[in-house]
Amino acid sequence: MRKILHFDKDAIEEMDKRFRANFINSVTGYKSANLLGTIDQEGVTNLAVFSSITHLGSHPPLIGFITRPTVVPRHTYANIKATGIFTVNHIHAKIIEEAHQTSARSDAVTSEFAVTGLTPKFIKKGKAPFVAEAHIKMACRYVNEYPIKENGTLLVVGAIEDIYLPEGVHDTEDGWIDLSKARGVTINGLDSYAEPQLLDRLQYAKPDAPITSILKK
Ligand SMILES: Cc1cc2nc3c(=O)[nH]c(=O)nc-3n(C[C@H](O)[C@H](O)[C@H](O)COP(=O)(O)O)c2cc1C
Repeated sequence: MRKILHFDKDAIEEMDKRFRANFINSVTGYKSANLLGTIDQEGVTNLAVFSSITHLGSHPPLIGFITRPTVVPRHTYANIKATGIFTVNHIHAKIIEEAHQTSARSDAVTSEFAVTGLTPKFIKKGKAPFVAEAHIKMACRYVNEYPIKENGTLLVVGAIEDIYLPEGVHDTEDGWIDLSKARGVTINGLDSYAEPQLLDRLQYAKPDAPITSILKK
C-alpha cells in the first residue's frame, strides 16, 4: 500500500501561497465549469470562468456561486448588481482554452468575448449575453447575496429563469441531463479541465433495498 501523507493545520498554514491555493482548491473534488456572461450599463459585455456554481434547490430553481473579495473590481459581480441578470454557460471540451483565458484580469471596457473569440448571443433583447458556442445555457436573475465574513467572499444567489439545451441530451421521461452528451467538462483545482466518464445511474436509494442500475435495466 502507498504511504499516506498527512497535512495538519500548521503544515497547510506554512505552505507557499500558490501551492496552498492549488492544493486546497483541488482537495474538495471536481467542480462545475461555467462561464458567467454579463453586461454593464454602457453595453460592454463580460465573460468569466467560475468553478463555484452550485445547485441550491430545484423548486424554486436556485443556484449560488462564490465571488472573491471585492477588493479589486469584479466585473461579473458589479454587472450583476447593476443589471440584476447573468447567464451561466457550461464549458465543454472544445472551448477550454478560451474559457480559461477569461480568468485573466482585464479592464472594464475590454470584453472577454472579443479577447477569446467566443461569440456573444443575445437571445432576449436587453438581456445578458450567452456564449453561442456553449451547449447548455441558463439565464438567471440575481436574488440575494450573503457575505462569508470569515474570508470576505460573497455567496450570490440566482434564480434560474430560462434553460437552453441541445435536443437529445436529456431524458424526456425523468428529466436527467446527460452532461457527457454535451461534452461538459469539470474543473480540478484552478487550472485543470477534465472530461468525466459516466459510470452508471442508480435508482433512488431505499433503506432495505439493494442499489440497482437505471441504465442497465
Ligand atoms: C478555473 C477557474 C475557476 C474560477 N472560479 C472562480 C469562482 O468561483 N469565483 C470567483 O470569484 N473567481 C473565480 N475565478 C477567477 C475569475 O475567473 C477571475 O477573477 C476573473 O478575472 C473574473 O472576471 P470579472 O472581473 O470579469 O468578474 C476562477 C478562475 C479559474 C481559472
